[in-house]
Amino acid sequence: MSTSQRIDPTLLEHLLVQHRDLHARLQTLRAAFSDPANRGSADLRAALADLRTILQEHFVQEEAGGFIEESIARIPRLASAARDVMAEHPRLLDELDGLLESLSVLDISPAGWRSARERFNAFADHLLAHERNEHAVVQDGYNEDFGLDD
Ligand SMILES: [Fe+2]
Ligand SMILES: [Fe+2]
Repeated sequence: MSTSQRIDPTLLEHLLVQHRDLHARLQTLRAAFSDPANRGSADLRAALADLRTILQEHFVQEEAGGFIEESIARIPRLASAARDVMAEHPRLLDELDGLLESLSVLDISPAGWRSARERFNAFADHLLAHERNEHAVVQDGYNEDFGLDD
């Protein structure tokens, strides 16, 4: 890949908008999990399932978008960090699948609910760390400030 090649800025902007949307969904879900009245809530489970669908689409677009490859082409030392970031995608989806599975019981116990809340919070932390690492690779690669640290 030529280093003179430019990534479509619209695609990059599109992915950044998705990151903000994911951020907002995580915050909403974190608040929902902290409310004991939501134990066994079908709406909460549906919101998590929506997150799963959106996240998978987001990962597919990132993997197909080429901006990670472009970052590596520009700065080869980013290669291993970039590969590590992309390798996290299936692990994050598996983590979310495990959580959805644990919430599939209709009559979840208080202990089961607490455990689901902990799993969600851990998952949210992993996803946020993932996005931070991803931003770091792209920012280094493009040597540009995308306004990601707001
Ligand atoms: Fe990603
Ligand atoms: Fe991302």
